Amino acid sequence: MTSLANEIDAPRITEPAHTPVMVQEMLLALAPVEGGSFIDCNLGEGGHTEAILNGVRSARVLGIDLDYDALMRASERLSKWTSQLTLHHGNFADLYKIASSYRHVPVSGVLFDLGLSSAQLDTPDRGFSFRHEGRLDMRFNHSTGISAHDIVNRWSVEELESLIHDLGEEPRAGRVARGIVRNRPIETTLELATVVIKALNWPTYSRIHPATRTFQALRMAVNEEKENLERGLEEAVLSLNSGGRLVVISYHSVEDRIVKNFIRRSAASCICPPSLPECVCNSSPTLTPINKRVIKPTVSETQDNPRARSARMRVAERI
Ligand SMILES: C[S@@+](CC[C@H](N)C(=O)[O-])C[C@H]1O[C@@H](n2cnc3c(N)ncnc32)[C@H](O)[C@@H]1O
Repeated sequence: MTSLANEIDAPRITEPAHTPVMVQEMLLALAPVEGGSFIDCNLGEGGHTEAILNGVRSARVLGIDLDYDALMRASERLSKWTSQLTLHHGNFADLYKIASSYRHVPVSGVLFDLGLSSAQLDTPDRGFSFRHEGRLDMRFNHSTGISAHDIVNRWSVEELESLIHDLGEEPRAGRVARGIVRNRPIETTLELATVVIKALNWPTYSRIHPATRTFQALRMAVNEEKENLERGLEEAVLSLNSGGRLVVISYHSVEDRIVKNFIRRSAASCICPPSLPECVCNSSPTLTPINKRVIKPTVSETQDNPRARSARMRVAERI
């Protein structure tokens, strides 16, 4: 764990490289009140935190991110709120422990804005984009962990197939996995994208770029996104005070399903398997869903910011 308070010598940026998504909906859902404290689990470029601090003058925010460079930029952007802000370089999977270490629990709201930022996507060297030539990296925290290069060049065809199928929901994962193994070594993002295009015999009609699902799967595996989200949601519930809000913005069906199922389970008064004749779990609900249906961005937002198109927001309240 690394506290960034007062230690950042950030480069000046003129314009944020990421437009925050569903800001008005997020503020409505988080319902920030004067004196409230919040955790922004995906601080990124600081856009959502800036909106909270602009909206509620006395709010306190703990912002967490795995990407040290993003934290530095956010620190610069949010410099006028230094006294209300704590920035932490770490993983939201540990958010209760992190927040406790700053005596920042219980809180009135926890926000997740999952995935990656435009700043990360548009930096070729980070290796997230199939449109720019770059190293096959994809780590949010580029100082630790395995990279996409390791997975692409070392995993077996069976491991690659189940990864691309499960995390990318690619129906033709087997063809992609075999194409990857046949063309090793694969060094760069564009080399990988070309392999996927050939394996899927593009151009056939498709709404999305053929490498989208494979890149999503690799990014999720490199950053253990599924496991982190599952742990992070549990920790968020521990961190919220009664009546506090959990707000999650996700960008594809794999992560949205995790959030939906988590809220459903947390709202249930019994989690025993239906086959049991009577309840033995003694569990009690911890969350109440606030929106029955998933919240989507407005048409005008998606026209202005195409990245918002896939955004889905779910909101629940701590009981
Ligand atoms: C969509 S961006 C957030 C953008 C931000 N809300 C804004 O308005 O600028 C997602 C951010 O989450 C970070 N991230 C992804 N997984 C994380 C994790 N497990 N713990 C902490 N940060 C994570 C990424 O590094 C990225 O900066």
